Amino acid sequence: MRATITATSRYLPERVLTNFDLEKMVDTTDEWIRSRTGIETRYLVSEGEATSDMGTHIATQLLDKSGKSPEEIDLILVATSTPDYLVCSTAALIQDKIGAKNAWGFDIAAACTGFIYAMETASKLIESGRYKNAIVIGADTMSSIIDYTDRNTCIIFGDGGGGVLLESSDNQAGIIDSILHTDGSGSKHLNVPAGGSAHPASKDTVDKRMHFVHQDGKTIFKFAVKNMADVSKQILDQNNLTGEDLKLFIPHQANRRIIDAAAKRCGLAENKVLINIHKYGNTTAGTIPIALDEAVETGRLENGDMLLLAAFGGGFTWGSMLISWGDA
Ligand code: COA
Repeated sequence: MRATITATSRYLPERVLTNFDLEKMVDTTDEWIRSRTGIETRYLVSEGEATSDMGTHIATQLLDKSGKSPEEIDLILVATSTPDYLVCSTAALIQDKIGAKNAWGFDIAAACTGFIYAMETASKLIESGRYKNAIVIGADTMSSIIDYTDRNTCIIFGDGGGGVLLESSDNQAGIIDSILHTDGSGSKHLNVPAGGSAHPASKDTVDKRMHFVHQDGKTIFKFAVKNMADVSKQILDQNNLTGEDLKLFIPHQANRRIIDAAAKRCGLAENKVLINIHKYGNTTAGTIPIALDEAVETGRLENGDMLLLAAFGGGFTWGSMLISWGDA
C-alpha cells in the first residue's frame, strides 16, 4: 500500500509587498533583491490573520476538491514554524474550524523542510493501514517573526501555504521514496532566539529584537546548494533514475540562485524545474505545496509522471521525496 496525493490547494493572503515597497522601508533596491534572490513580490497576512486561518482555507479547498466531508478526515498534520500559539497546535485549531471531528493531528517544526517531514510522517501512518487519509498542510506567517528593519531577512520571506489530501492507494501511484536529514549543529545559523523555553519573552528579549528571525545568509546559502543538490541526486541514484526520468522538480523556493545551482548539480533542464519565487518569496513550509498546486492547476503533472521534491531549512533540516503522480 502507498499514500498518494488526491487533491492539492494553496492560499496566499491578499496584501502584496513589492521590492519597491521595501526600498522605502530599508536600505535596499529592487535591482539588488531581484539579482541576489529572484524575488519581486511577496504576500502578507492582514491584521488578525494567523497560520490556522490560512490552513483553514487550504483544508476547506481540499475538502471541496475531493468531495470528502470533514468527518471523513482521519489525520491533520501541519508543518509550520509560525503556529498561532505555543500551546495548542495549529492542527487542532484547523481541525475545529473545519469540523473534522474524527481527525487527530499535530504540528511539525522542521522549518522549510517541514512539508516533506509532514508528508513522510503522514504517508507512513497511512501505509500502516490504520488511517485512510490525511490532510497535510505547510503554511507559515513569516511576517509575524520578521524584523522589517533588517534588510538581511525582510526582503526574503512572505506568508502563505498549501496542502494536499493524502489517501491510501493500492496501485503504483504515490510516494515512492524519501530521504530526510537533521543536523542540529546548524541551529545557530538560522533561528528565532527568544519566545521559547530557552529565552522566554521578557522586556529584555523584546528590546534586543530576539523574537525575530536571525540568519547567517552566506552559510545557509552554501549549505543549501550542497545539501539540496546531494539529497536530490542521492534519491534519484538509489531509485536508478536520472534527471531525464523526472517530469518535474519542485525545490524549496528560498533563493533563485540556490535553485539554479541545485538544478545544475542534478543535471536538470530548466523546463523541468518549477520556479515561482519571484511571486511569493520564501514562505518557509509553504513553498512546496504552493508550487505543487500551481503545477497541478497548469497541467504540468499527468498520471505516471515522476515528481521530485527537495528542501532545506533551519535546524538544519533537509530532504527529498520521490512521487509517482496519480490517483488512488
Ligand atoms: N539590500 C542591499 N544590500 C544588502 C541587502 C539588501 N537587502 N542585504 C545585504 N546586503 C549587503 C550586505 O550587507 C553586504 O554588504 P557589505 O559587502 O558591505 O557587507 C552585501 O550586500 C553582500 O551581502 P552578502 O550577504 O554577501 O549577499 P549574498 O549575495 O550572500 O545575498 C542573501 C544575501 C541573504 C540573499 C543570500 O545569502 C541568501 O539567500 N542566503 C540564504 C538565505 C536563506 O535561504 N534563508 C532561508 C533558509 S530556508
